[in-house]
Amino acid sequence: MAYTKEHHPVPARLMHSIHILAMIALAVTGFFIYKPNFPLFGMSMATARTIHFWAMFIVLLNLVVRVYWAFFGTNGDIKEFLPQKENKGTLFPLLSYYTFTRKTLPMTAKYNTLQKSTYSFWLFLLIFQGLTGFAMYWKTNPLFAPVIGAAGGLLNVYVIHYLTMWVFIVTTMVHVYLVLFEDFKAFKLMILGMESEGAHHHH
Ligand code: HEM
Ligand code: HEM
Repeated sequence: MAYTKEHHPVPARLMHSIHILAMIALAVTGFFIYKPNFPLFGMSMATARTIHFWAMFIVLLNLVVRVYWAFFGTNGDIKEFLPQKENKGTLFPLLSYYTFTRKTLPMTAKYNTLQKSTYSFWLFLLIFQGLTGFAMYWKTNPLFAPVIGAAGGLLNVYVIHYLTMWVFIVTTMVHVYLVLFEDFKAFKLMILGMESEGAHHHH
């Protein structure tokens, strides 16, 4: 499969870009909310929180639209996120490729098993982050009392929300690393909208 816009249609790329920008805003302002002496061009706490709240609505709305589009969009791609028969038996060859004990990637569907798992994991992680986030936002609302209760208190909710940010940062660094160093043509297409010739790799 070549790197064409058919492979990553405009709506998917647009939503991916909105997601990246919102996540960067969330992480940067989140850091500042966590540690207000973090030097952020003299930003005030009020500004950081306002940006965090705007970005959280954007990221969650974007997520809802992305999931809806995956199911009902013209080029809806929900099957790419679920197990597919092309990926059967490719997990171990894939793992040996990533641990440098195999030279070539096994042939897989558009997304390999590790990609599918990561992308699904992020879906749940973002919902989880929203849940802990709203529990802090509406801390006195009885609706979120079970979340605060399960965490063992509001203070723990803050800590969990903060640690979840690190899970996002670390997993996203792996995602970006693989895309840049293993599949630069996918990067050019997905981020810059530039098509290329050649077989599509899977990472
Ligand atoms: C998805 C929806 C999200 C909601 C509803 C949300 C909501 C919140 C709220 C209400 C606060 C507390 C603000 C305050 O007390 O001033 C907060 C803090 C924070 N947020 Fe989020 N957030 C979301 C996503 C994210 C994401 C994606 C990240 C990072 C990748 C993030 C990182 C942080 C951090 C690090 C803090 C500071 C926590 C602390 O003080 O220990 N948030 N968020
Ligand atoms: C600067 C940051 C990022 C870059 C350069 C980047 C790049 C890419 C590229 C090139 C693909 C296509 C992979 C392929 O065709 O094999 C992709 C897909 C994907 N990325 Fe990222 N990504 C970034 C940040 C993120 C973040 C922060 C998340 C979520 C936390 C994310 C989630 C996804 C998902 C779910 C897909 C599947 C396809 C789709 O949503 O349309 N990415 N990314």
